[in-house]
Order: sequence, then structure tokens, then C-alpha cells
Amino acid sequence: MNKRIYLIYILFIGLLVSCSKDVAINPDQVAFDAADGIKGAQIYDHPLNYASASQTDYPNAQTNFWRCKSCHGWDLRGQSGVLINKPSSATYPVAAAGNLYTSSRSKSIRVLFDAVKKSGGRKKGTYDATHPEYSSILTDAQIWDVVKFLKVTSHNVDDFYTTTTTGTYPTGTKTFSNIGKDGNAATGLVTYNKNCAVCHGTDGRKINIYCQDLFLGEMFRKDPHEMQHKAIWGMPNDRENIDKGCTFAGTMPAMPITDQDIRNMMVMGQDVTKFP
Ligand code: HEC
Ligand code: HEC
Repeated sequence: MNKRIYLIYILFIGLLVSCSKDVAINPDQVAFDAADGIKGAQIYDHPLNYASASQTDYPNAQTNFWRCKSCHGWDLRGQSGVLINKPSSATYPVAAAGNLYTSSRSKSIRVLFDAVKKSGGRKKGTYDATHPEYSSILTDAQIWDVVKFLKVTSHNVDDFYTTTTTGTYPTGTKTFSNIGKDGNAATGLVTYNKNCAVCHGTDGRKINIYCQDLFLGEMFRKDPHEMQHKAIWGMPNDRENIDKGCTFAGTMPAMPITDQDIRNMMVMGQDVTKFP
């Protein structure tokens, strides 16, 4: 090989090595890209459903202390959102002060992952306001699912309804208005009949939710914060109500619908005659 060609060859190899360093794969990013935000939404609802079957240490009586939504709310807004009037008790934790929706959008995926995994956090048995440790309940892949939910999938609830609050946690008040925003009731009914009626009935009364005489129409009107989550991402096992013997309780699959479909159904569900 003549000297010049040899030099070019060496330069070329050098370039290859430095390029491959630049595109060095970040394992966090790979895990995040592979994660499923809809699974994350269901984990957010009830992480204890994902504990292994042999994991019997987490009694149902204390599940509120482990469900993300108990402290962060269905709207992710903690004390300043729907939880503003939800005081803590022997069976319910103190709500988080911060707004998880906005902080998740701005924080790195690693910071969020560590916050959820929370190595050294509160474990079973000691129930207080400190953050639970999820490393013995969720796999790393499941924690990445949750991070994907927080960062990408989760809703800005302002897109679905308006929340008005007064006062401060835990003695404030909240009201919902403009439920469904610009939704269209007739289009909502088409979506409802196609996707929901088979289980919930054409008037929403086929499933007696939690066996507490709560039906879908009332949820459209009173619980839009929960509706915007479950209507599209479904829900994992309702283990407490199954244990109580409620035969309506179970799981609900994620639904192949859009955010606009949710708004349409929300407007549809304001009709007390059609959805009593
Ligand atoms: C018992 C109450 C409780 C439960 C249950 C809980 N959290 Fe938290 N979480 C908090 C508190 C308190 C903070 C501290 C910051 C604050 O007040 O917002 C926090 C902070 C976080 C943070 C860091 C936010 C930031 O801005 O850095 C993330 C991410 C988070 N939680 C996600 C979750 C997820 C996901 C779950 C369920 C798998 C969960 N949390 C369950 C109470 C809870
Ligand atoms: C395959 C059956 C099935 C379909 C289809 C279905 N659901 Fe459900 N849904 C359920 C079951 C079962 C529950 C759980 C009730 C329980 O555990 O108390 C439920 C619960 C819910 C809840 C939450 C009640 C609560 O507070 O826990 C909402 C909201 C809901 N469904 C809305 C919808 C909407 C909107 C659709 C259509 C887009 C739909 N569902 C389609 C079976 C279904």
C-alpha cells in the first residue's frame, strides 16, 4: 500500500470510530422508545395489579397508598387539581403537592424513571406520605411504560373540560364545566354504540360500577377527570371490588378511539334521559 493511500485509510477508520461514538446508543432512550404508554396508563391506575402472584404482601385494604392516582389524581395535578377536596385518612394518602403533568413534560426520562422506581422509598407496611418504592412491584420495563405515559400519552385535562377550584388542599372545592368542550353528541353516540354499548348497555346501565348503583351517564357528568383516562386506556383489574364479590367488577380493555371521540361521548353523556 502506498503511503498516501495508507494515510487516507487510517483517517477513514478514525472517522468511523468517532462517528460511532457520537451515535452511541443511550440505553434509557432505547427502553423509553420501546415502552407502551397505554400499559403505563393502566399501571398508573393500579400498580399492585402487576405485582407477581407470589407477592401477597400488599393487602387490598391499603391499595390507595400505592395507586398513583390516589396521590397524583386522574388529572395528574395533585393537590391543585381534582384532589383539592380529598383529605387524607387512615385509608387514603396525602396528595402530592406538585403538578405531575407539567413536571413530566419538562423533566428527563431518567429523572422520572428514578422518581417512580424510588429505590429506598417507602415499602409495604409503613404507610406515610413518602413516595412508595415500586422496584419490588414493577419491572424496569413497566416503569418505562409509566414514564412513557407521563411524558407522552397522558392528557392535558383542559382539552376535555374546565376545572374551577377555590381554596386550598384539602378543604378546597372543585367544579367541572364545559365537559366535552367542542364535542358533538350525535357523533359521540355512534362511537358509544360501536365501542361501549356491548358491555355498558345502550343507556349505560348494564354495568353497575363497583356495585354501587353508579352508572356511566353519571360518570360522564360528574367524573370527567376519570372518564378522560378510562374511556380510552381502559382499566386493569378492579381487585378491591372483585374481592368484595361485585360481579360487575373486572377489567376493561383499552379502546380504539380518539381524544375527540371522548369529547363527543362526554357531550352525549350529559343527556340525563338517554343516559340516566
Ligand atoms: C402515597 C402518595 C404517592 C403515590 C402512591 C405515588 N406518588 Fe409520586 N409523588 C408523591 C409525592 C408526595 C411526590 C413529591 C413531589 C410532589 O409533591 O409533587 C411525588 C413525586 C413523583 C414524581 C416526581 C415528580 C417531579 O416533579 O420530579 C414522579 C415522576 C411520580 N411521583 C410518579 C408517580 C407514579 C408513576 C406513581 C405510581 C406508580 C406514584 N408517583 C405514586 C406521592 C405519591
Ligand atoms: C368488554 C367490555 C367493556 C367495554 C367494551 C367497555 N367497557 Fe367500560 N368497563 C367495563 C368493565 C368490566 C368495567 C369495570 C367496572 C368495575 O370494575 O366496577 C368498566 C368500567 C368503565 C369505567 C370506569 C368506572 C370506574 O369508575 O371504575 C368507565 C369510565 C368506562 N368503563 C367507560 C367505557 C367507555 C366510554 C367505553 C367505550 C369507549 C367502554 N367503557 C367500553 C367493561 C367494558
